[in-house]
Amino acid sequence: MKEQLEAIRAKALEAVALTQAGSELEAVRVQYLGKKGELTAVLKQMGKLSPEERPVMGQLANEVRAELEKAIEAQAAVLAEKALEAKLEAETVDVTIPGKRPQVGHKHPMYTALDEFKDIFINMGFEVFDGPEVEQEEYNFTKLNTPDDHPAREWSDTFYLTEDSSILLRTQTSPMQIRAMEEHGVPIRMISPGRVYRKDEVDATHSPMFHQIEGLVVDKGVTMADLKGTLNAVIREIYGPETKTRFRPHHFPFTEPSCEVDIQCHKCGGKGCPTCKGEGWIEVLGAGMVHPKVLRGCGIDPDEYSGFAFGFGLERMAMGRFKISDLRLIFENDIRFLEQF
Ligand code: PHE
Repeated sequence: MKEQLEAIRAKALEAVALTQAGSELEAVRVQYLGKKGELTAVLKQMGKLSPEERPVMGQLANEVRAELEKAIEAQAAVLAEKALEAKLEAETVDVTIPGKRPQVGHKHPMYTALDEFKDIFINMGFEVFDGPEVEQEEYNFTKLNTPDDHPAREWSDTFYLTEDSSILLRTQTSPMQIRAMEEHGVPIRMISPGRVYRKDEVDATHSPMFHQIEGLVVDKGVTMADLKGTLNAVIREIYGPETKTRFRPHHFPFTEPSCEVDIQCHKCGGKGCPTCKGEGWIEVLGAGMVHPKVLRGCGIDPDEYSGFAFGFGLERMAMGRFKISDLRLIFENDIRFLEQF
């Protein structure tokens, strides 16, 4: 029996030392110390021993058991330590690895141009108004003195949203003149930027959606000289102090007299080049003195008050400001294009 116990001791200790994981260690424990374990089996044979042998073997068996239990406990600690190390190793964060820089965007060039524009007008005492893109026909046309047979009212030109033509996508920001006068009253100095929609095919200078900035000044004694002075000042802020302007007679239903304003081509200085399509001049806005009928329609007495209005094309302004040659670039939002600004 002594040899048996010694053999178990040697075998078991070796097995314990070889375990790599807690589950393996537990299997070894069960194999030797469990109810049906090898050591337990030997102990069950104690009864067969002589009374002299029994205490000696009993003591040895207890020693072996104690030694095994201690070895198992020690190995358990070693394995736990190893497991912790492996875990820490696997979860290590190397703080010295260069990080991924988050892509931070920036303002779209058109909005940069818009913000500069707003600053110029706010410095001149203008308020900024916001208005609906889905507009009533009444505001987009009728209250702006647009005749029933005006071509802009055609279904081929305008996006109508209802069969009876009463609701549409605004074709201009001019309805904001009416809304501002009705809601704010006079005197008023305001600009109102926003999207407008027309049934135009996309090309280098056209898009079915583009942006305008409306402007309106109504007060006592406002004249065409105020219109020219204000617009010249603004244009020189935007395009440079040397910029030459030209006020050309034009027609809009809601202004009288009306004009279009051109700037002399900065590329060729007026001689004519591809940028100005050989004209020497580039159109930048429409403007005029607010029609007395429009004022009256908003409850304002045209004998007491007068005013001027204007409408800038925002894309065109950004294109001039940043020397962009194709309108489509502004809307495509190709990162390689936008990153240049
Ligand atoms: N709404 C006009 C257009 O879209 C521009 C304009 C605005 C003209 C204000 C005169 C006064 O062409």
